[in-house]
Amino acid sequence: MRTTRRFHISAVAQTQSLTKEDVVKEDDPSNNVSDAIFSKLGINLHHRPNHPLCILKEAIYEYFEGREPGKFQKFDKEPPVVTVKANFDEVLVPANHISRSYNDTYYVNKETVLRCHTSAHQAQKLREGHSHFLLTGDVYRRDAIDATHYPVFHQMEGVKVFSNDEWVDAGLSSVNYIEKDLKECLEGLARHLFGDVQMRWCDCYFPFTDPSFELEIFFNGKWLEVLGCGVMERQILRNTGRPDDRAWAFGLGLERLAMVLFDIPDIRLFWTDDKRFTEQFSAGELRQKFKPFSKYPPCYKDIAFWVNDHFTENNFCELVRGEAGDLVEEVQLIDEFTNKKTGRTSNCFRITYRSMERSLTNEEIDAIQEKVREQTASKLKVELR
Ligand code: DAH
Repeated sequence: MRTTRRFHISAVAQTQSLTKEDVVKEDDPSNNVSDAIFSKLGINLHHRPNHPLCILKEAIYEYFEGREPGKFQKFDKEPPVVTVKANFDEVLVPANHISRSYNDTYYVNKETVLRCHTSAHQAQKLREGHSHFLLTGDVYRRDAIDATHYPVFHQMEGVKVFSNDEWVDAGLSSVNYIEKDLKECLEGLARHLFGDVQMRWCDCYFPFTDPSFELEIFFNGKWLEVLGCGVMERQILRNTGRPDDRAWAFGLGLERLAMVLFDIPDIRLFWTDDKRFTEQFSAGELRQKFKPFSKYPPCYKDIAFWVNDHFTENNFCELVRGEAGDLVEEVQLIDEFTNKKTGRTSNCFRITYRSMERSLTNEEIDAIQEKVREQTASKLKVELR
């Protein structure tokens, strides 16, 4: 979530069996999903009992179960291929919102995207009649590359619906009543996960809630954003056939919290099969700290070119990811200048290559870097320097 805050029919197929061929028709020009991204569909890290993301998911379930036994329904198998309508329209994301751009979101075709948030399922679940639910899934965003950003990550969405008599009996307005319940509930969740920590609420903006808040906790010497939430826009409830109800909703990123809770330094570790990582975690244990194993050495390569008007860092990162896969650790803009005479702008990016599993050879990195250079010139139509 490095760029400004981004906000997210039926599913096309079951997650387990999705392949690129199932979802992309021929070479649809509106498809910007690379094979590297397609290969992540159906992996479902959040289903593996001893994986930190699943341990965290279960710990959140446990909290809600303790607070309101038997109330919250859990969903974690909704396929990530959703309609533009579900991802954006139904949660009231404005037509011109940046998150809808091809630069930020993976489009399978004009009407279909890889969900960029689990909020994509809010309307569907409300329409199906669910009033209390927690929905977990993999979400996809085009973004920069570094230790805390990966194009696929996991979110959990929570929704609780209230009916008229609840706030009337309490003698409060619907918004006050729901806001109070929401804040108490989420403060309890933060304590359940992080212990007795200092917290603060910040006002913010989401298209799907009003008022909207962020919860931050003071942990390891820093204020950390834990989740976004708010009182659901009434329009969403009206559109799903529930005009008299009110609701709250929240969304949280599992990697973000798991990295802090378990001391995991690099977001790519979640994807590794290296036993030195996977064997450090076991179901039900939230309090274990990751013990780093020695890292293999990095290899740095710079690439410089004259950009054009269409150039974006996300497109470049996507291209690098396409050639290097998980061997790319970071892409960093290290130099940028404009030639006063020609008006042309030059960018220099430093690419850090490193494997989580082995030492890389010079030859293989040179070969990847050469491909990156070729593709950058031919696909992004920039002039290499
Ligand atoms: N969808 C938001 C995001 O991805 C997170 C979020 C914020 C979800 C507020 C919510 C909410 O349901 O009420 O950044």
